[in-house]
Amino acid sequence: MLKKIAVIGAGNVGATTAQRLAEAELAKTIALIDVVDGVPQGKALDMLEAGPVYGYDSQILGSNTYEIAQDAEIVVITAGMPRKPGMSRDDLLDVNRKIMTDVCQNIKKVAPNSLIIVVSNPLDAMCHVALEVTGFPSNRVIGMAGVLDTARFRTFIAEAADVSVEQVNAFVLGGHGDTMVPLVRYTTIAGIPITDLLPADKIAAMVQRARDGGAEIVKYLKTGSAFYAPSASVVEMIESIVKDKKKILPCAAYLTGQYGVNNLYVGVPVKLGANGVEQILEIKLTAEEREQLQISVDDVAANVANLKKAMAAV
Ligand code: NAI
Ligand code: 2OP
Repeated sequence: MLKKIAVIGAGNVGATTAQRLAEAELAKTIALIDVVDGVPQGKALDMLEAGPVYGYDSQILGSNTYEIAQDAEIVVITAGMPRKPGMSRDDLLDVNRKIMTDVCQNIKKVAPNSLIIVVSNPLDAMCHVALEVTGFPSNRVIGMAGVLDTARFRTFIAEAADVSVEQVNAFVLGGHGDTMVPLVRYTTIAGIPITDLLPADKIAAMVQRARDGGAEIVKYLKTGSAFYAPSASVVEMIESIVKDKKKILPCAAYLTGQYGVNNLYVGVPVKLGANGVEQILEIKLTAEEREQLQISVDDVAANVANLKKAMAAV
């Protein structure tokens, strides 16, 4: 168990993440911070009062300022706007860039040795803001997206094959956007390639549904985006770090030559342990998979170029 994990943004993803962290007792103190007066305080107290029923002893604090995040070992950033129906994640670039900058300036002051998990969208670009503003080494600035995108893909496969989700293994590579790359060739059910178990047209439909997974939820909710599966995904990453489990998980990591990509956050398989990103795994791709990954990488690069222009103009 860590001494402290801070969650910035007490909205849907942030509050649910804090609750899951308390339930899993991954830290003695969970610090929930938001700009809206009363919201982090009220939600933190409510979660604290669930402790006796659920059986956790984590202390949950809420505040509009950063003192409670002093010396946090892990900081999860969920602050920012979610998308509305018809919006892409990229439409959030400008508004969330400013929020992310403010948050990271504060984290740098109060928790200079922390490891950051970025959640706010557009995910890959926001990781760049966090890296640049904090100046932290890239093994300590990680984006959550691949675990979620893969969980969606695994859900659809388990449903289609009528098997336990636990036996479906899959990987989604690339940016957290419409061009992400679910890797069918590396997807198995109990070790058996799904191409041996499911028809090609069904697999293709599930690949597309995984790509559209975020938008599918936004369409239902109308006023916000997914948060149960996203918060569960954040907590899986944190558990691997806190317990030094060294799970291989798809995360947005800063690439410095891997997959032929330089100085860009892209979703790839990484080993997550006590030191954050301990290894970036380069798996072999076919020409077609490489082409698809390049399309996704180009999308991220274009977004980051827009971001850098906006940051330079400030
Ligand atoms: P939400 O609107 O429920 O919560 C966001 C919270 O951030 C609000 O409570 C707001 O007051 C707070 N906030 C705004 N500016 C702030 C600041 N400067 N400092 C601290 N708090 C601030 O939104 P939700 O659903 O929690 O989503 C949060 C972000 O996460 C969105 O950008 C969303 O697109 C993204 N997201 C990313 C996912 C991923 O896979 N990477 C999955 C789900 C959401
Ligand atoms: C999702 O995929 C909104 O990025 C978020 O649900």
